[in-house]
Amino acid sequence: MAQLNVEYLGLALKNPLIAGACKLTSNLDKLKQIEEAGAGAVVIKSIFEEEIQLERFKFDEDNERFDNLHPEMVNIFPQGIEHGGPEEHLMWTRKAKEALSIPVIGSLNAVEKESWFEYAAKLEQTGVDALEINFYSVPTQFGSSAESIENDQIAIAAEIVKQVKLPVSVKLSPYYTNPLNIITRLSQVGPKGFVLFNRLFQPAIDIDEEKNIFPFNLSSPGDIRLPLRFTGLLYGQTSADICSSTGIYSGKEALSFLLAGATCFQVVSAMYTKGIKHIGAIINDIQEWMSRKEYATIDEFRGKLSRSKSNDPWIYTRAQYASMLLHSDEIISNSDLAA
Ligand SMILES: Cc1cc2nc3c(=O)[nH]c(=O)nc-3n(C[C@H](O)[C@H](O)[C@H](O)COP(=O)(O)O)c2cc1C
Repeated sequence: MAQLNVEYLGLALKNPLIAGACKLTSNLDKLKQIEEAGAGAVVIKSIFEEEIQLERFKFDEDNERFDNLHPEMVNIFPQGIEHGGPEEHLMWTRKAKEALSIPVIGSLNAVEKESWFEYAAKLEQTGVDALEINFYSVPTQFGSSAESIENDQIAIAAEIVKQVKLPVSVKLSPYYTNPLNIITRLSQVGPKGFVLFNRLFQPAIDIDEEKNIFPFNLSSPGDIRLPLRFTGLLYGQTSADICSSTGIYSGKEALSFLLAGATCFQVVSAMYTKGIKHIGAIINDIQEWMSRKEYATIDEFRGKLSRSKSNDPWIYTRAQYASMLLHSDEIISNSDLAA
């Protein structure tokens, strides 16, 4: 039987499938199902400062709602009650860690600089095995330059690595001018791994109702190509582990990432669309493929199709694009024929 175990962030994983951060990983029952389905590790839903700020705002609003109704009715709640801040999140992260035997990775996303460090320290105290810094942010300030945003992120990562004893990974969005550059600069300040990539919620518009909507933003298998390119480019160029993410629905996508050089991979959308048990099917696919190809361990084929192990200098660069342009007429006429 092929050995699927890998080492990620210095943690021993029985296989490379990690259940990625999402609402499912904030629920103890679901987390147990994820473990039973065979996941190698799990990332708990991020602690989002923005969410806590919004909840706190709503709490204060409810708290003060009756202030002006009756002069004697200062408040419907006893005086001095405050929103619990991140405490609730920390409480069930601790419970998740106690309940599971697979590695549990805490995840954080903050707005204020100080909150990054506060949350990192508090998550460490819950007993999690590692921290994933989730640099999930949408640029909304016209005046912020790419350089200043990147420098801030690097300074935050450096300080967190310095302050906590846990291994740290950084989860990035693909929207950097040069992801290879920021990853290289970040890796110099000590994270042991990179998660490529996050998937930002994007707004949409309902043209019938003429209103803004926020549909559930799940991926599809075709979405692996962008992270696959950067996985293939990075393998052998950084000592940090690469954890690929986005669009993994079967062993086919998972194996593509491993062949490109990923140490492990994260799955979220497939759990939502196919159910948590589907994790087991992805692991079985890998196992079957390795047996068929007579691979005993993942190390025997990891990175085999990365850029650094390939003899073709154009792999993962623009060559395919040029050939697509040259042959795009054939693609159109073939699909016309098929229709
Ligand atoms: C409902 C939902 C909630 C998510 N919550 C988080 C989160 O808390 N933290 C995080 O880093 N990523 C979060 N993500 C992003 C996923 O972890 C993952 O990076 C992304 O969905 C791409 O993987 P996939 O193609 O397997 O879905 C969330 C995704 C979804 C669909």
